[in-house]
Amino acid sequence: MSGQANEERNEPRERTVGSVQIDWDALRSAAREAMTHAYAPYSSFPVGVAGLVDDGRVVTGCNVENASYGLALCAECGMVSDLARTGGGRLVAVACVGGDGQPLMPCGRCRQLLWEHGGADMLIETVSLGIVPMREVLPDAFGPDDLVAAAVRGQG
Ligand code: THU
Repeated sequence: MSGQANEERNEPRERTVGSVQIDWDALRSAAREAMTHAYAPYSSFPVGVAGLVDDGRVVTGCNVENASYGLALCAECGMVSDLARTGGGRLVAVACVGGDGQPLMPCGRCRQLLWEHGGADMLIETVSLGIVPMREVLPDAFGPDDLVAAAVRGQG
């Protein structure tokens, strides 16, 4: 890793969630490896992402573009598919990187994907805030709980 010290990246107080140990360097490495598989001939903007699951698995994804540009699949789409395919579970920590291997913020749509599978407490490495819980990058989020609440009110 270049640059920042662990303290600046907010890592020491975020190393363990429940019984799962978070190795941020390993997550970044997995994201960079995934990024090398990106199919991004239209944007030339490869992205890789890696997520630690609550059972200790690491799932990954890369972006896959399409000649119909709007159909591009973000790296996070591939990662949540990998999550489901390999047994499901909850994401506890996610690192996303761009072509330079440095942290990249998930787009708005993908923050919603991450919320679905990690919720408010899932840790995400950000570009400007260090490592923070999802509630800080998707405040007042809509999610599965809202559907349950609406159903309880008879609106579902
Ligand atoms: N991209 C991702 O894979 N994830 C994001 O969170 C941001 C954007 C991809 C989509 C597209 O293939 C390329 O980056 C340029 O937007």
